[in-house]
This record gives sequence, C-alpha cells and structure tokens, in this order.
Amino acid sequence: MKYQYGTVTKALVGELQAIVGKPNLMIDLERIENYSHDETSKEEYAHTPDLVLTPTSALQIAAIMKLATRERIPVTPRGAGSGLSGGAIPLFGGIVLSVEKMNKVLEIDEANLTVTAEAGIVTNELNEQLKSRGLFFAGYPMSLETCFLGGNIAENAGGGKAVKYGVTGRYILGMEVVTPQGDIVELGGKVTKDVSGYDLKQLYIGSEGTLGIITKATIKLLGVPKVASNLLVPFASAQEAIAVVPLIMKQGIIPTSIEFMDRSSIELTCSYLNESLPLEGVGAMLLIEIDGTDEQTVERELIQVGDLCSEQGAMEVYIAEDATTRERIWSVRRNIAEAIKVYSPIQSLEDVVVPIASIPLVLPRLEQLKAKYQVSIPCYGHAGDGNLHATIVKDPQMSLDDWKDLEPKLLSELYAFITGELGGKISGEHGIGLKRKGYLKAVTPPAEYQLFKALKAAFDPLYIMNPGKILD
Ligand code: LAC
Ligand code: ZN
Repeated sequence: MKYQYGTVTKALVGELQAIVGKPNLMIDLERIENYSHDETSKEEYAHTPDLVLTPTSALQIAAIMKLATRERIPVTPRGAGSGLSGGAIPLFGGIVLSVEKMNKVLEIDEANLTVTAEAGIVTNELNEQLKSRGLFFAGYPMSLETCFLGGNIAENAGGGKAVKYGVTGRYILGMEVVTPQGDIVELGGKVTKDVSGYDLKQLYIGSEGTLGIITKATIKLLGVPKVASNLLVPFASAQEAIAVVPLIMKQGIIPTSIEFMDRSSIELTCSYLNESLPLEGVGAMLLIEIDGTDEQTVERELIQVGDLCSEQGAMEVYIAEDATTRERIWSVRRNIAEAIKVYSPIQSLEDVVVPIASIPLVLPRLEQLKAKYQVSIPCYGHAGDGNLHATIVKDPQMSLDDWKDLEPKLLSELYAFITGELGGKISGEHGIGLKRKGYLKAVTPPAEYQLFKALKAAFDPLYIMNPGKILD
C-alpha cells in the first residue's frame, strides 16, 4: 500500500480520551459495530473502526485531527449513517468521528433569515425548531427523520423538493470546518454573494468527508409556503408516466416535486407499510406537489398540470389537499428504499441523473437490461430532477454467484449509457463513496480525474481524511 497508516496504540487512546472525555470514546466491539456500516446494503462494504469518538466541539475535533496527523491515523467523519454509497465506512479502520453530540441550533437570525446549527442536528428537528417562526430549511432528503445536517452538506443531499427549491448546497451560506491538519476554518458567512477568493465552501459541499469535517453551518431560510397540494396520478404504463415529466417542466410552472414510482416499488412499499393505494391496471404513478403563498394560484397550477396528465393518458388524477392524505402518500414514497431492501437486502440502489428531456429514454434501457440479465429493477425517484433510483435487486431465486457476476456488468453498461449517450451522471444525490469509485474513474475524463486527485492531495496530503472514498 502506498500510504502507511499508524497504529492506534493504548497511549494514543489515552490522549484521545483526554481530549473528548471518557463518555465520548467507544472502543468495545459491541458498541463500535454500529459505526462499521451505513445504509448501503452490501455487507462487504462494512469495516470496523479501531475506535469511535463523539466530540462535543470543533476545538475537540481540531485537537483530534492534530493527533491523527501526528500519528497518521485515518479519520472517517460520520453523520447519522443514513448514507447510501458507503461514505461513512472506516475502510482503513482508525477513528470514526461522529458528530452526533453536536446537535444544537446556535442562532436563529430572523432579520437575516438564517439559522446557524451544529452538524449533528437531525434535519426534521431543525425544521421543527423553525416552524413556529414560519420559516423553513428547504432541504428535503427522504431520510429527513434521521439524517443530520452535516451529512446533508457533505453529500449535497437532494430529495423530494429539489425541482423547485434545489439541493442542499443552495442554502448553505457559511460553514465551519476542521481541516485534516486540525485548523478550524470559517467559510462564507451570512452574505448571499461572495466572490472573495476561491469558493472553498462550495468545494466542501458534496465532498463526502474527504476534505475535512463540517462542524456547523449557516443556512438561508425561506418562509413556509402557506398552501401546498398534491396530485397522485396513475398511468397504465411506466413509460407513459415518465414521458409526461419533461412536458410538465416545459409548461412554465415549477412544481415543488415530481416523483415517479413504478408499480413494483409501490406494491412492495404498500405491503411493507400495510398501506393501500388504488393499483388496478396501474403501471406507475406520478406524485406531484405544488406549493405557494396564494391558494388560487396553487389551485390553478394544479389543475393545469392535472389536465396535461389527463391529455397524456393518465388513468385518474387524484387531488390530495388535506395534510393527512398528503402525509400518507409521501410516507409511501419516502419508504420505498427501505421496502425494497426488506424484499431483497442484496441489491444495488442506483441514483443516475440525466438532463430532464432525456428522462423518458432511461426506462426502455432499464427494460433491456432487465431482459438481458434476467433481473428485477424496481424504479422510482425524483423524476422532475431527471434523477431515478433504479434498484437492481437479487431476486430470491438467483444464486449469489450469478448476482456477483451480473452486478458489475449491468452497472457498467447502465453508466456508459447514462454518461455517454444521455450526457448524465452516475450519481445525483447519493454520492460516490466506496460504492461507485471504480465506476467514477471509468466515466471521468483523465484530465478531470487528475484534478480530483490533485485537489485531494492539496487538502489532505497524508490521506488520513476519509481515505478510500470517491477516489481509488
Ligand atoms: C429516496 C432516497 C433513496 O429518494 O434517495 O428515497
Ligand atoms: Zn432520492
């Protein structure tokens, strides 16, 4: 191996304990086991760290990083562990640095419409604290009940409202990071424009913990939309449903969400949740949300989108105006990934993204791959962003050997099609992590890949910061 890492000795454990205090250091196997994996389903990705630290301040993190630099110990930052590409897995052992105890809202600045919070706050909890003031953070990852702000930023999480509101990075005005060398750096601030030097904040957004540890962030807030309404629109075929998506986007209306769910995704999730949706003759559904400040406008736009769906062959257009029905339907949508995992824990949850006009071309290729490899691929996702979660699953009757043989072949074919023919990308929101690093190299032009490597080396010359992620 090119990079030799140091050993976590008893003496080093003592020094680390002196920094964080005994309750914030875990070393017994039973407790650190939880930190050996994320939500990626592959067991082979799991790796146990030597120890887990749960520091309570950026100062402590800085001191940890100074020691890690001195001893060349790999450090893997961790949020809630809800990631889907293996980003939080300590591939080379060493330290897992969990921000779970740094979970406070530090300041709500109503005059500037910002909130500053620590990296370990749960996304939903942040919005709960803002609600009474009529404000919200527009990030809406599907794991919002568990995922942490720091992880959202490190992955530049997308989710179900990005059609209108964009992804997490758009709302991050400032952040505090600890560098691999143990310096505490403030990037950005409360300003909305900033061209004062290189935009390092933007580099940290989506860097998957490979450039440093995000400890807190200042977020731009919006007023909670007063009105929101949803359409649930079944189509007889998945292709008909997806073909409507670019047409909706061309109308000049910007829905909050356009989510796609194929029949098998819905069936698996309804049975997982003990829920029922009208499914007779249905091939796929679109879940469309429109929100705004004015009831009449929202209603008019909703009707316009509903009419377009009907013209394009929708079987029905159900309107879900009340909050309870909306939450029921969204709960089905949010639980699809989990439900498919229950059906088959051996799977590859994909996250390809294409320019919106090309999204109807993705499904026929998935059909071809299904037939060629004799495999099931339930598919759902954020169709309005051109982002689909095709999930290649090992059906119960398939042998593990067959699965291991087909998975890389199928993925290589899919990625070549998405990037080569459609001008898309292999991940829109889940990231590269461990799961896709080989494929990233394969689809990235050499000169660009070289810049990735040079950037990593400039920030982290000892390769101690979440090593083995994104880049090979
Ligand atoms: C979702 C996650 C898997 O969209 O990204 O449900
Ligand atoms: Zn998603």
